Amino acid sequence: MSIPPDSTALGTSKENQNGPNRRHFLYLGTAAVGAAGVAATAWPLIDSMNPASDALALATVEVNIASIQPGQMIVVTWQGKPTFIRRRTEDEIKQAQDVDLSILRDPEPDSARVQRPEWLILVGVCTHLGCVPIFDGNNLRLSDPDFGGWFCSCHGSQYDTSGRIRKGPAPYNLPVPHYSFLSESVIRIG
Ligand code: FES
Repeated sequence: MSIPPDSTALGTSKENQNGPNRRHFLYLGTAAVGAAGVAATAWPLIDSMNPASDALALATVEVNIASIQPGQMIVVTWQGKPTFIRRRTEDEIKQAQDVDLSILRDPEPDSARVQRPEWLILVGVCTHLGCVPIFDGNNLRLSDPDFGGWFCSCHGSQYDTSGRIRKGPAPYNLPVPHYSFLSESVIRIG
C-alpha cells in the first residue's frame, strides 16, 4: 500500500507566528509519510496472496514520528482511511483529561484513548456520515464553543482534544485504531 501525495501536516497559528511555518509542517508530514510508505511496501504481495478482506485486516503502516513537534499533526493513510497522528500540547492533554465524563455523549476517559498522553492516534472519519474532520485548534475557532479538537464541516460535528464527540450529529467518538510503539520514534498502526 502506498501513501497518497495528499497527506498533510498541520500546526496551530501560534506556531506559525513563533515557530516553523506551514511549509515546514508539510515537509515534516512528507518525511513521516515517506517512512510509512517504505514500511508498507509489502502490501501488494500480501494483497495478491489473500482474499481482499483478510489482506485489509492485515494491513499495517509504520510511521516515524520523531519530527513531529508538540502541537503538530500529520495525516497518513491506513487501510484506505485518513489517520491522524497528533502530538498534543500540555494544554490539550489537560483539557482532555479534565472533562466531566457525565456530560459526554460517548463517555470515554482520555486515558482509555491514548497509550502515551502526548500522542493521540485517531481514524479521521466522522462518525456521522464519514466526512474527514479538520483540526480546529484554538486558532481557527470553527467550533462554538471551541473544544480545541476537530470540526466536521459537513454537518457541524465537533470533537475535543481526545477526539471525543462534543457537539453536532455524530453519535460516537473518532475511533482509535490499534497501534503500538515499536520504539520511541516509530509507531505501527494496525
Ligand atoms: S459527516 Fe461529519 S457531521 Fe455529518
